[in-house]
Amino acid sequence: MDILEAIRKRKSIRGYKPDPIPQETLREILGIATRSPSAMNTQPWEITVVTGKVLDNIKQGIIEMLNSGATPSIKIPSKPFEGKYRQRQVDLAIQIFKLMGIAREDKEKRAEWMQRGFRFFDAPAAIILSVDRSLDEVHSQFDVGAITQTICLTALNYGLGTCIEDQGVGFPEIVRKFTHIPESQRIVTGIAIGYPDWDFPANKVESQREPLEDVVTWYGFD
Ligand SMILES: Cc1cc2nc3c(=O)[nH]c(=O)nc-3n(C[C@H](O)[C@H](O)[C@H](O)COP(=O)(O)O)c2cc1C
Repeated sequence: MDILEAIRKRKSIRGYKPDPIPQETLREILGIATRSPSAMNTQPWEITVVTGKVLDNIKQGIIEMLNSGATPSIKIPSKPFEGKYRQRQVDLAIQIFKLMGIAREDKEKRAEWMQRGFRFFDAPAAIILSVDRSLDEVHSQFDVGAITQTICLTALNYGLGTCIEDQGVGFPEIVRKFTHIPESQRIVTGIAIGYPDWDFPANKVESQREPLEDVVTWYGFD
């Protein structure tokens, strides 16, 4: 797939077909994505791929935590968004809830939707990205961001959709329990991955972007 087409086509997929992803396909995607740049080529990413029973166990563990009233131990963002950032967050939520037919006051359906997010949107596989705690947090976070986007773009070439998922790693202790990612690694984010179910309403979300002139400042062009 052409790189520009992939960038334009990539969107967060929140509804998947149950079809499993061949391990070889995931291996190819990750083989390409690890060509991502990193500060001083440190390649800080540790990549854990989960599917089948292991993913089921993680999802069940997370749902049990939520049902017990536990709050995610990784709170992302660590403080609430404000101003235009909050507005963009609200605009996205309005779009998703409208497409999913979830009314603002319908606490039950909202909670169901939230749980779906914590279940990696029922994708057949999930990719967990972690980094060694000895590394500088700013650099390693940046580098994980780069590889995360590269994984999402590469996946499109194989007909796969993705959703970068902070929710899925909100209870890192559960992820650790079933994957043995050691405490010496900081779990940064997760990616739900699978074949998109294009009939799933939330997959019709078209997230907005600000006009270029509002985010780019030009110097020396005249
Ligand atoms: C670091 C990061 C964390 C995210 N976590 C979640 C998440 O927990 N749940 C979710 O539904 N989407 C999550 N997203 C997806 C964003 O909501 C999405 O990228 C954004 O709304 C833009 O939409 P698009 O990906 O369809 O272009 C996350 C994205 C990023 C970059």
